[in-house]
Amino acid sequence: MQLNDWLRLAVDSVEEWQSTYPPFERHPSLDVGDERFRAAFDEFATRMRGNYPYFHPSYAGQMLKPPHPAAVAGYLAAMLVNPNNHALDGGKVTSELEKEVVADLATMFGFGTHLGHLTSSGTIANLEALYVARELHPDRGVAFSEEAHYTHSRMCGLLGVAGTPVPADGLGRIDLDALDRLLAGGQIGTVVATAGTTGLGAIDPVHEVLAVARRHGVRVHVDAAYGGFFTLLAGSGGRTGLDPLPWRAIAECDSVVVDPHKHGLQPYGCGAVLFGDPSVGRFYAHDSPYTYFTSSELHLGEISLECSRAGAAAAALWLTLRLLPLTPDGLGQVLTACREAALDWANLLDESDLLQLFQRPELDIVSYYPVTSPASLSEIDRASARILADGMNDPQRPVFISTLNVTADAFGRRHPEVTADRDQARILRSVLMKPESQTYVSWLHSRLEELAG
Ligand SMILES: Cc1ncc(COP(=O)(O)O)c(C=O)c1O
Repeated sequence: MQLNDWLRLAVDSVEEWQSTYPPFERHPSLDVGDERFRAAFDEFATRMRGNYPYFHPSYAGQMLKPPHPAAVAGYLAAMLVNPNNHALDGGKVTSELEKEVVADLATMFGFGTHLGHLTSSGTIANLEALYVARELHPDRGVAFSEEAHYTHSRMCGLLGVAGTPVPADGLGRIDLDALDRLLAGGQIGTVVATAGTTGLGAIDPVHEVLAVARRHGVRVHVDAAYGGFFTLLAGSGGRTGLDPLPWRAIAECDSVVVDPHKHGLQPYGCGAVLFGDPSVGRFYAHDSPYTYFTSSELHLGEISLECSRAGAAAAALWLTLRLLPLTPDGLGQVLTACREAALDWANLLDESDLLQLFQRPELDIVSYYPVTSPASLSEIDRASARILADGMNDPQRPVFISTLNVTADAFGRRHPEVTADRDQARILRSVLMKPESQTYVSWLHSRLEELAG
C-alpha cells in the first residue's frame, strides 16, 4: 500500500479545491518556519517512538491497531477542510457522507427504519442509547451483564438511573434465568445485551435476551461496540462462521452501538449509535438559535448529544467502506482472518503442556493461563503477571499481550480442578484484531510458551 502516494493525493486534492478561491496571504502570526517545525517535530517523533508497536502482530494486547491507509487519506483530506458535522452548513458534504455510512451500518444490522449518527466513541454511543432508555422509562432502570463494559454502570450513574448487573454464565454470557427473574420484578425498562464482551469476546444470546425482555415489556439495547462488525460472518458457515441467531436478532432490538474505530479500520474517535424507531429523535429536541439555519433537512446535531463532531471521521469511514464494503467478502474478510487466528491459537493451546485455554474464543479474543504447579489461582496470577512483564520488556523479541482479572467463581466454573486460594486471578488475554495475526499466531504461541516455560 502506497500510503505516501495516497496522502499526497489527499493533500493535492484539497489544495486544488482551495485554489479555485481567490488567493490570500496567510497571516504571519501563524508562521512558525520550517526550521522550528523540524525541531519540534523531531522532539515529537522521538516521544512517539515510546509507543508500543500497535501496528505489529507481536502486539496482541488490547483493542488497538492503526487505521486502514484509505481511512487515513480520507481523514486527512477532510481534516484539512475540517468540517463539523453538527449542522449542515458546518459539515455540508461530510454530513451527507455520515448519513450514508450510518445507513450502511443500519443495513448491516438489518434495521429497516433507523435514526443514528456517529459519535466520538463507544462510550458516548452507549450513553446516548441509555439516555433514550431513561427518557422512555424515567422510572425504570437498566440491566446489563456483569461482563458488560464498565461504561454501562458508570453511565447509569451519570444519568441518574438504577443500573443492575446480571450474573454471567460459565461462558461469560448473560444468565437468562437470572435476567428473567430480575425483569419479572418490573423495575427494569431496558436491558443491555453485549455482542462481544470486552474481556473475553463473549456474545450474549441476543435472540433469547430479546424474547425474555419482550415477555416483560422491556426494551433491548445491544452493545456491539467491539463485536458488531462480526455480524458479517453470521451464518456464513465454515470454520469461522458465527451462529446467526444472536446477530439476526439485533434487527428486532431497540438500539445498537458499534465502534468503527475498533473493527471498522478507523482512527479514534468513531463510534456509532442506531435506533430502530426514528421517533426517539424527539428526545434530542433543543433550542439552538445560532445554528440549523441553512436547511430544513435534518442536521445531525439535532439528534446528537455531542455538539461539534469531526466530519473527517465520517469521510474516513465513507472512503473505507467504498473500498471494503460491509459484506462478507469486503470487510468480512478482515474479520474472518482474525477469527482464523483465534481458532488456530485455541488449537495450539489445546495441545500445549505449558499454557491452558481459559475459554474457547467466540470472536478473536483468546484467553489462556500458564500451567503452574501447584495449580492454584495465586500461582497462576503470579505467573501471568511475570509473563506479561517479561514479554513486554524483552528488548530482543518483545511480545505484547494483556492480563484479564477473573473471579475465583468464574475460574471455578471453567476449571474446577484449579485451587481457589484467592478471590481472583490474572490470566492472559490476546486480542487478535489485525488480520496479520493469522500468519503470526504460531510465533505468538511459541513465544508465550517460551516465556511460560
Ligand atoms: C463492549 C464495549 N462497549 C463499550 C466500549 C467503550 O468504547 P470506547 O472505548 O470507544 O469508548 C468498549 C471498549 O472496549 C467495549 O468493548
